Amino acid sequence: MITVSNLAIQFGKRVLFQDVNLKFTPGNCYGIIGANGAGKSTLLRAISGEVQPTKGHIQMEKGERLSVLKQNHFEFDEVPVLQTVIMGHSTLWAIMEEKDALYAKADFSDEDGIRASELEEKFAEMEGWNAESDAAALLSGLGIKEEQHHVLMKELSGNQKVRVLLARALFGNPDNLLLDEPTNDLDLETISWLEDYLSTYENTVLVVSHDRHFLDSVCTHMVDIDYNKAEIYTGNYSFWYESSQLALRQQSQQNKKAEEKRAELLEFIARFSANASKSKQATSRKKMLEKINIEEIKPSSRRYPGIIFTMDREPGNIILEVNDLAASMEGDVLFKDVTFTIEKNDKVAFLSKDPRAMTALFEILDGKLKQDAGKFSWGTTITPAYLPLDNSEFFNTDYNLVDWLSQFTTGLNEVELKSYLGKMLFSGEETQKKASVLSGGEKMRCMIARMMLKNANCQRCLVLHPA
Ligand SMILES: Nc1ncnc2c1ncn2[C@@H]1O[C@H](COP(=O)(O)OP(=O)(O)OP(=O)(O)O)[C@@H](O)[C@H]1O
Ligand SMILES: [Mg+2]
Repeated sequence: MITVSNLAIQFGKRVLFQDVNLKFTPGNCYGIIGANGAGKSTLLRAISGEVQPTKGHIQMEKGERLSVLKQNHFEFDEVPVLQTVIMGHSTLWAIMEEKDALYAKADFSDEDGIRASELEEKFAEMEGWNAESDAAALLSGLGIKEEQHHVLMKELSGNQKVRVLLARALFGNPDNLLLDEPTNDLDLETISWLEDYLSTYENTVLVVSHDRHFLDSVCTHMVDIDYNKAEIYTGNYSFWYESSQLALRQQSQQNKKAEEKRAELLEFIARFSANASKSKQATSRKKMLEKINIEEIKPSSRRYPGIIFTMDREPGNIILEVNDLAASMEGDVLFKDVTFTIEKNDKVAFLSKDPRAMTALFEILDGKLKQDAGKFSWGTTITPAYLPLDNSEFFNTDYNLVDWLSQFTTGLNEVELKSYLGKMLFSGEETQKKASVLSGGEKMRCMIARMMLKNANCQRCLVLHPA
């Protein structure tokens, strides 16, 4: 259980949120939502102790353990896979290390004997003897084969590392589990494995995600960060969305009587509860819905960026022709015999179980990677723009946003650059902030502004998680 009291966080003059009071209780999964830059990642970082609150405090129940999904895929490169998972339980790991060091001593004293038996007792309390088999079972459930459990992390592919880091976060059923956009780098199969896992999780889960389907299938509650506040609502994402839409409609019908509004909402709740599929969610939702306060549901204040691509030149009819294309990586065939044609006005979504296959296809089409076989040709009139999935190299800088964007164009003055940033919802003081501190979604918006500057006529966007 986590209790957040009177929390406020601000950076410089910018207040992310204030007067936040929340209680996260076991058996529930809280989906944290809010516009890009609202402060979702910052809230999780404050809870895990990485960010110091400006005001207020955060408390975890005594003796509880907190676990965070790590985002850095290279952090454990020199550590064996199984050990990476077990180390996720830091107290258990510390006991194992101290125990091993004691037993390895040549001059094992009486004192060492006493300490060793203390450690053994704690170890047994934590069911330490099952640690290896539990970790192995988690890994196998996530599709990491046994022969890979003892190799170093650096030997694994990116996609496998992500799954090991997930196993590490889940290992030992932490009392409080924090996941920031866990589905981003996962393939569809692993996402549905995680959905099943979290739906029956007995402890407290906080998850940030832009994936509505995922939120719907795992969440019992939503935490909406909006109006510089964070509020908990019962129900999954669809329920929150529908009720905030309803609140918006009701707001525009000011003269409608309070009882009528109430009746409308209650009818909506009844309909929604009847449709709810997961029984755990349904019962918990029912309980809370009984005491729901209609006045509490507010319409969302989200704004949406204006993404307008203009073209220097109208494209011809054929955009792209791909014939018998094949690619492989580390001995795995990613795809072969891929043949398709894209014509003018087509909008195509690419799906793959293996994110490596998707990245490879786009990198080949962008000329960055060489295919194993087959060929492709872009239409003669095509000027492409590419939005890469990994944009970290673009933000490793001291520039503010205006200077950042000016790198990608010559003809525009400051006012025009600010107008592009404005379309991406950065205005006033926000345009002076450093590009390096942007949230994930804000970075993506800057990359889109950069792409808009190109006036290309075929937007090739590799966006695996359009946050
Ligand atoms: N060290 C910092 N200095 C100044 N501003 C910061 C700093 N760290 C974060 N911010 C700003 O705080 C805001 C919240 O960032 P955060 O990463 O929490 O957003 P988020 O809700 O997770 O967004 P996204 O959906 O894009 O991931 C952003 O506008 C970001 O630029
Ligand atoms: Mg974030």
